[in-house]
Amino acid sequence: MKNFILDVDTGVDDAFALLFAARHPEINLLGVTCVDGNTNLKQVVINTLKVLDAAEAGDIPVGVGATRPLIDEPRYAEYVHGADGLGDLNYPESTRTVDPRPAVELIRDLVEGSKDPVTLIPLAPLTNIALFLRSFPETAKKLERIVLMGGSASQGNATASAEFNIWHDPEAAAIVFQSGIPITMYGLDVFGDLKMDNSFAKRLHEKSHAPSTFGAKLIDAMLARHKEEITLGDYGAVAVALYPELSTQETMKVMVDTTFGPNRGATICDHRPIEYQELGYTKSWLEQNLTVQVCKTIKVDELRELWMDTLSRS
Ligand code: BDR
Ligand code: CA
Repeated sequence: MKNFILDVDTGVDDAFALLFAARHPEINLLGVTCVDGNTNLKQVVINTLKVLDAAEAGDIPVGVGATRPLIDEPRYAEYVHGADGLGDLNYPESTRTVDPRPAVELIRDLVEGSKDPVTLIPLAPLTNIALFLRSFPETAKKLERIVLMGGSASQGNATASAEFNIWHDPEAAAIVFQSGIPITMYGLDVFGDLKMDNSFAKRLHEKSHAPSTFGAKLIDAMLARHKEEITLGDYGAVAVALYPELSTQETMKVMVDTTFGPNRGATICDHRPIEYQELGYTKSWLEQNLTVQVCKTIKVDELRELWMDTLSRS
């Protein structure tokens, strides 16, 4: 059993991740925290509670976090996820209530209260996580690992070089990458690989089970909107946190570009031999910027079937 905390900006593919995390028998989902990103924080919270309903999840605490990035103005992605950030399915609002603790306090209490190690899985801009690291550094040291969806060792999506979650709050991302906590980066190098099409949605509909039907409707909505294969996206990060063997990973130094030029928010991934790195960077930079496990490939068929099986189990 693995203890996970998810940080989300729900978001259709965050919903795919939440459905999986809430239903997988080997995941103990300790809590979920919300941050602005794909859409505004209020809508993120509404969407997150709805998805937990759809997953038929138990009483999982949901913490409300940052309303905007540390420095930049928020910039949303409704063009991808629909006006409500959740495919505009118009599912009824949940009667669940949010936890009274702010997100950073909820994370602290869940980590401190857990007997076993906790993995933190941010699937969103890293604002909440940076605030948590700065607020409770001693608790942060107890984390087993951060497995984050974000960044890219190749090209970007929000800009030519920057991935959306990192670009949305580069300063927060820099704090996380320099934290000294072991990090796995599930970025754009693999993010788009878990493609789904109409036949996948049809198989999911045939399961006739509430969580899988919700997942299938989300896929239908995204296929109608984007008219092409779409991806399970953020889900992959949760699956790789549970089963790292379903990915190949390379060790790299990762630096976040926090300058205000065209590469703002890019993750510069350095996997040159250490002697070359030492030529260009100071020793303190090398010590400060942690080596990161960067996902390079994933086992696509196994991961897709794992998601479908998990949503379909009663
Ligand atoms: C990331 O940004 C969001 O749109 C997705 O949910 C994912 O976390 C991809 O760049
Ligand atoms: Ca997300």
